[in-house]
Amino acid sequence: MKPSVFITRHIPDEALKKVQAVCSVDLWEDEMPPPYESLIERSRGKDGVLSMLTDRIDSNFMDAAGANLKIISQMAVGYDNIDVNAAKERGIAVGNTPGVLTDTTADLAFALLLAAARRIVEGVRYIENDQWKTWHPTVLLGWDVSGATLGIVGFGRIGKAVARRAAGFNMRVLAYSPSLTDEEAQKENVERADLETLLRESDFVSLHTPLNDATRHLINHETLKLMKPTAILVNTARGGVVDQDALYDALTNGVIGGAALDVTTPEPLRADHPLLKLPNVIVVPHIGSATIGTRGRMASMAVDNLIAGVTGKPLPNAVVVGTRGISA
Ligand code: DGY
Repeated sequence: MKPSVFITRHIPDEALKKVQAVCSVDLWEDEMPPPYESLIERSRGKDGVLSMLTDRIDSNFMDAAGANLKIISQMAVGYDNIDVNAAKERGIAVGNTPGVLTDTTADLAFALLLAAARRIVEGVRYIENDQWKTWHPTVLLGWDVSGATLGIVGFGRIGKAVARRAAGFNMRVLAYSPSLTDEEAQKENVERADLETLLRESDFVSLHTPLNDATRHLINHETLKLMKPTAILVNTARGGVVDQDALYDALTNGVIGGAALDVTTPEPLRADHPLLKLPNVIVVPHIGSATIGTRGRMASMAVDNLIAGVTGKPLPNAVVVGTRGISA
């Protein structure tokens, strides 16, 4: 009998076909994610689940899904929606999709940085509102990117890829990560900095940390006050890394200059959210990895993890190594 799996959203066809060749697939067809109760109901008795970052995968889910569940394969590099300790305790493998979205996400971070610095979205609105009367020496003036200082908070794959882009703009790059060594910083052509120095000296601050207990609200009232009044905050990591109320206050009181966000709390952000009324804020709907090629690669990687997990093989990309269904 084929192993049975639940896939919580439509994935690209090629990847779906690959799972269907090996597994009996239950696919959630809706555009919206399965509500928590449906997530549990459809996962009950399954050997594997292919999850998205919008699915809450907690200990209750794992117990309700049952003892057959061998693998949770997340189609994302981030997995803060999964209780990995609970998975570990139960011997359930957890997989993710690192590497394949690095450049795509770094591209978006840089696009947001440039768009905020050069007031691209305001410029588009200016024309749409029929305010464009003539060329004017002091209208829509932004900030130079070339030669400015970029602070990168979190210096993993994506942070490093952003630093490489900054080199092309001749930027001074400061990097903060608790594990960053001088040798690594030197190799990547960045200056290692503590968080306070980075925030004080940067014209642009780009966040690239995972969301966990150590990084939740890392950017808050106090840390925002350290930043330059002209500084622009870019977040393509997770909304929870920023205390969004503190950010709103900082943006409305001139504590920092602007923000460009791919991720927010909550997601989705409704159209009447006060942040969206601010001229110095750009928000896009969590599209860091959203290119055809990258989403295809993420799906393929998630499917490879899923198939390995349900057939008792080591996952190509494991966050948690499982023990269920592995023969000694
Ligand atoms: C991830 O993979 O964690 C990204 O946020 C998806 O875009």
